[in-house]
Amino acid sequence: MTRHFLANDDLSAAEQARALDLAAELAADPYAYRPFDGPRSVAIISDKPTLRTQLSFQVGIADLGGNAVMVDGNLAGIGTRESIPDSARVLGRQVAQIVWRTGAHERIEELATHAGVPVINALTDAHHPCQVLADLLTLAQHRGDGSAASLRGIRMTYLGDGGNNMAHSYALACALAGMRLAIAAPEGYHPDPDILVRAQAIAAETGGAVSVTDEPGAHGADAVVTDTWLSMGQDGAEERARVFSPYAVTAELMAQAPDAVALHCLPAYRGKEIAAEVLDGPRSLVWDEAANRRPAQKAIMIMLDEWAGEQ
Ligand code: NVA
Repeated sequence: MTRHFLANDDLSAAEQARALDLAAELAADPYAYRPFDGPRSVAIISDKPTLRTQLSFQVGIADLGGNAVMVDGNLAGIGTRESIPDSARVLGRQVAQIVWRTGAHERIEELATHAGVPVINALTDAHHPCQVLADLLTLAQHRGDGSAASLRGIRMTYLGDGGNNMAHSYALACALAGMRLAIAAPEGYHPDPDILVRAQAIAAETGGAVSVTDEPGAHGADAVVTDTWLSMGQDGAEERARVFSPYAVTAELMAQAPDAVALHCLPAYRGKEIAAEVLDGPRSLVWDEAANRRPAQKAIMIMLDEWAGEQ
């Protein structure tokens, strides 16, 4: 069976730890491994806007000795102009791996079923696994000793839309890392119950914890995290701004957790979900977080390539 990276729990706890340790090694030495020398090609397909994702995958694939092929999702029309299975079969005959940013998560699951090569989720409505892996690498570097093992017990508070891709990916990845995650989100914007159950079952095994509350706050947090209140493809900006405003990451909120660092996957809306003085302040790790997309994704590409070779 071809392995894919569609959600964080496609990896076991030990595999995620290996990915993070490999990513730390690649952050220190970007050219350590060149499994795509040849070069073999990797397709990067975007159905939604992208800056960090296309950049970090494209540069990362070059680091690995490979050739990145950018595909405009609107031109390809996967699932509209051509069925998802047909597109998958065409892609899988040309490239070693497929990276896809799209909407409904079922779309990428269907592509993976038919591609015959590893598929990596570069964001769907339900998950953003690569970003959260980069975030954990950043925390390991700044709150631990750089190793995945040093993430164990770290307390993260996520505030805002608890039902979006970032919240879901934090729930799964923090659980795998043995971290303690609290999601503070208004009623109606809590995580998908199935994903929460999956995360809590993992946390029970790893000694981590994943909890959900309506109460905004950051007491006891080592890391405070938020994301846009309006994800790509969503509407209702005004209503969302009203509902989420008590969950904004302000200087006052950060004062509740004096040692905490601040994370945000970007793009950020200063004065909305995060205050400018927090995002641009000394406790913000957002630029390291963005830079770490590249080593984190390279670690995933290396591991998937290894597993595909073992089939
Ligand atoms: N939740 C955001 C993440 C952006 C990287 C979105 O889906 O737009």
